[in-house]
Amino acid sequence: MRKPLLAGNWKMYKTPADTKAFFEKFIPLVAASAHAEVAICPPFVAIAAAVDAAAGSNVGVGGQDCYWTNKEGAFTGEVSPAMLKAAGCEWVIIGHSERRQFFGETDESVCKKTVAAIEAGLRPIVCVGELLEERESGRTNDVLKTQFDGGMAPLTAEQFAQIVIAYEPVWAIGTGKVATPEIAEDAHKVIRSLVEAKSGKTAADAVRILYGGSVKPDNVKGLMAQPDIDGALVGGASLKAEDFAGVVNF
Ligand code: PGA
Repeated sequence: MRKPLLAGNWKMYKTPADTKAFFEKFIPLVAASAHAEVAICPPFVAIAAAVDAAAGSNVGVGGQDCYWTNKEGAFTGEVSPAMLKAAGCEWVIIGHSERRQFFGETDESVCKKTVAAIEAGLRPIVCVGELLEERESGRTNDVLKTQFDGGMAPLTAEQFAQIVIAYEPVWAIGTGKVATPEIAEDAHKVIRSLVEAKSGKTAADAVRILYGGSVKPDNVKGLMAQPDIDGALVGGASLKAEDFAGVVNF
C-alpha cells in the first residue's frame, strides 16, 4: 500500500513570521491525520521557522529546489541538499515547471540534483508535466517519457526507491483548471508504466506519484479516488491552514 503524501509548495510566498502563524493554525488541524504524510516546502529563508514550528508534529519540511552538489564551494545564490538536510528538511522539490520555464532547469540538471538530494538523505519530489500546446498537439506521453528518461531513468534502483514523482500538467498550475481525475489518472498510468519498463513491477508498484495543478479541498477527493494517484503537490491551496488541512484530510 502506498501511503498518500500531501505536500505544500509555497513558492515565493510567506516570511518567517507568516510561517510561524501558519503552523500554529495548521498543526492542530492535521494532528490526527495518520493516513498520510504531510510536508510543507517554504522559501529558503522561512525553512528555519518552519522546522522550529513543526518540531514534534507529523508535518515535514522541504526545500523548493537545491543545487546539484553537496560539496561547499563558490556557487553564489545556491543552497546544497546537505544544507537543507542540516537545516532540518526531509524533502526537496526538484524540476518544478516554474524552474524549468523561468530558470533554465533541464532534465539533466533535474537528474543531477535528484542524485545529490538522495546522497544528502533528502527525499526528492521530482516534477514532470506537459505544456498546454504539448497536450493539444498529442505529445503528452512523449514529453513525460523524455522528462522521465532524462531526469529519473539514470538513477540506480536504490536511488529510485527514495523518490516521489509529481505529475503537474503546466496548464493546470495556478490556473484553477484542475485536470479531471480521468486525465490525471491516464498520465499517472503512463508514468507508472515508464517506471515498470525501466525498473520492473515492484518498483512501479512502490513509487508514489502525486498530482499537482489547482488541487483544492473540493476537488482532492475525486483525484485521490484514482488508483494511481498517491497524493498531491499543492500550491495556492497550501497557503491557508484551513484549505491545506482540507486537502490533507481528503
Ligand atoms: P497550484 O500549484 O496548486 O497553485 O496550481 C501547484 C504547483 O505548482 O506545485
